[in-house]
Amino acid sequence: MRVVYVNGKYLKEDEAKISIFDRSILFSDSVYEVTSVVNKKLIDFDNHMKRLDRSMKELHFSKKINHTTILDFHRKLVEENNLQEGIVYLQISRGVVDRDFTITNNNIEPTIFAFTQEKKILESENAKKGIKVMTTDDLRWKRCDIKTTQLLYPSLAKTDSFKKGFDDAWMIRNGFVMEGTSNNAWIIKNKIILTRQSDNLILGGITREAVTNCAKALKYEVSTKPFTLVDAQSADEAFITSATAFVTPVIKINSSTVGDGKPGVFTKALREEYIKQALNNAI
Ligand code: PDD
Repeated sequence: MRVVYVNGKYLKEDEAKISIFDRSILFSDSVYEVTSVVNKKLIDFDNHMKRLDRSMKELHFSKKINHTTILDFHRKLVEENNLQEGIVYLQISRGVVDRDFTITNNNIEPTIFAFTQEKKILESENAKKGIKVMTTDDLRWKRCDIKTTQLLYPSLAKTDSFKKGFDDAWMIRNGFVMEGTSNNAWIIKNKIILTRQSDNLILGGITREAVTNCAKALKYEVSTKPFTLVDAQSADEAFITSATAFVTPVIKINSSTVGDGKPGVFTKALREEYIKQALNNAI
């Protein structure tokens, strides 16, 4: 049984509780971060913390949480649960207050909890074989840049993709590919690596940022601009990035095979470079 963290305490997972009045339960009024762990070390922790601060600021949460405190409980959870490879999930909600659409009292204590989850990251099957994605309308709100726990639509879209024999769904808005249900979308065409610019319509991925730097280190050209489904289906390679997927090849988009249907050479090189840099900088 896992040890989890709730508001300063370490508890067995079946003893951890939060109030039914927590605004995360009633309004999804909460933000989260997923930090990957490899060899018991945290990948890109500082940048996850910067994005956490930003998400909280955008929602006008009253308090900032000290990053050293967060690092301490992340490390303690990794240790207590002997997590070699997987993730630490962190969630912070506005707090507990009587149900009201208007936030009249913002001076409440945030609810903070975290837990670990084992997951194969380096040797994942998806990374070896590549994944198949289908497309779906992007019906999310237009503040996808805030990492809130309002995840029902992406969860339903991913489930639907599984039912149809795919591994994930890329969401389309006005004819352009936005991102995956929980990852950023990329294509490679004529040796140019393309990913959509980050604004309010997608989440600015921490892995996306790191992979952009890896591409530059490998002297590949990266262009941040929108691409359509047709662009994607005629691309030479495609891939996704996220804290848990790292760089994972996409080999099929709807009924179209990408390239020769196998993970592409640029994608593989990017994954290798990302792993090298991520492990070097892990803390
Ligand atoms: N998801 N876009 C969306 C919508 C996401 O939910 C995520 C991350 C990303 C990639 O961001 P990053 O590289 O910082 O992980 C892009 C996490 C992994 C999740 O919800 O489990």
